Amino acid sequence: MNSIVTPWEVKGNIDYNKLITEFGLSKLDNKMIKRIEKHTGEIHYFLKRGIFFAHRDMNFILDEYEKGNKFFLYTGRAPSGHTHLGHLIPWIFTKWLQDKFGVELWFQFPDEEKFLFKQELEYDKVQEMVYENMLDVIALGFDPKKTHFLIDTKHADIMYPEAIKVAKKITFSTVRSAFGFENDQNIGAIFYTAMQAVPAFLPNILEKNKKPRPCLIPHAIDQDPHFRVSRDVIPKLGYYKPASIQCRFLPGLAGIESDGKMSSSSGNNATIFTTDDAKTVKKKINKYAFSGGRETVEEHRKKGGIPEIDVSYQWLTFFEEDDKKLKKIYEDYKSGALLSGELKAILIDKINEFLKKHQEKREKAKSQLNNFIYKK
Ligand code: TRP
Repeated sequence: MNSIVTPWEVKGNIDYNKLITEFGLSKLDNKMIKRIEKHTGEIHYFLKRGIFFAHRDMNFILDEYEKGNKFFLYTGRAPSGHTHLGHLIPWIFTKWLQDKFGVELWFQFPDEEKFLFKQELEYDKVQEMVYENMLDVIALGFDPKKTHFLIDTKHADIMYPEAIKVAKKITFSTVRSAFGFENDQNIGAIFYTAMQAVPAFLPNILEKNKKPRPCLIPHAIDQDPHFRVSRDVIPKLGYYKPASIQCRFLPGLAGIESDGKMSSSSGNNATIFTTDDAKTVKKKINKYAFSGGRETVEEHRKKGGIPEIDVSYQWLTFFEEDDKKLKKIYEDYKSGALLSGELKAILIDKINEFLKKHQEKREKAKSQLNNFIYKK
């Protein structure tokens, strides 16, 4: 099956190496990882395991950083529903970058995006979800002094003047080919990419007292078309071309072959939300996590499982930080010593342990919200 990767649709068995060529990205190779390590002092396991796998212009970001010109980070989340575990992956890495490089983060909540792209979605529902999603971001532990939330409709007075400057330099034919739009696309959706470009240079306008800084955008690979377009435009407005660093998707519970990324729109069962309780997590994983185990226990013991297609194992590569533990799970599963049900139990514990802490921090986030929303 051919795969599809656009900001609105991700389907099929994704060949990430092929995407590097198709999108014109640079592979995040060992040399680059070592260069990052020089500054971070450690290699995040997302880098080691190829979860973050590609970039644009990281060398430029590090050249500037080494000259004393600190970049700022920019990422975002378009609210449509509750946050699921897949959404957290780029944010966890962004938080690590913020800590290690001591840099600012600008986090966009485009509360028009999903409203414009999803026929059924109502504006009021989006507003509710802006709030819910902000709690998840705060819960990950970003530094309130260095983190600024931008909400498109609430910060329209500072964002719109910049968005029109971007929009003026993008033709319909460019967005049509970058995003595959047809003639029946609504005009809000056609304009939207201009809004997503703005935070990649807006801090340089808002903080005029500081010297112009470059921007680094950590994001999941499906967002790349936006930044391919904005990288062409932003230098024409007199700002640095934004750099970026891309991650793979956390596969959907139902299977790597059937679904490239975990999506809340493909049904709630294939998705674990940050608000799910321990019982729900257990039920979903036991019932839906695609297994790479064999038909019978006997056959499994003899032939061993297939970790490469087993979603529980794949999820552990995203959530089990300890390399040694992960390796042992891999070997035991492959040899047949570890059964599919036992592997699921390991994942259930891991996720529930993570969510327990996350949900506590999410509660505390309610009183911190004000420190994060950008004040004009
Ligand atoms: N378009 C993203 C989404 O659908 C939201 C977003 C806005 C974003 N700005 C970003 C994602 C910058 C990554 C980087 O959720």
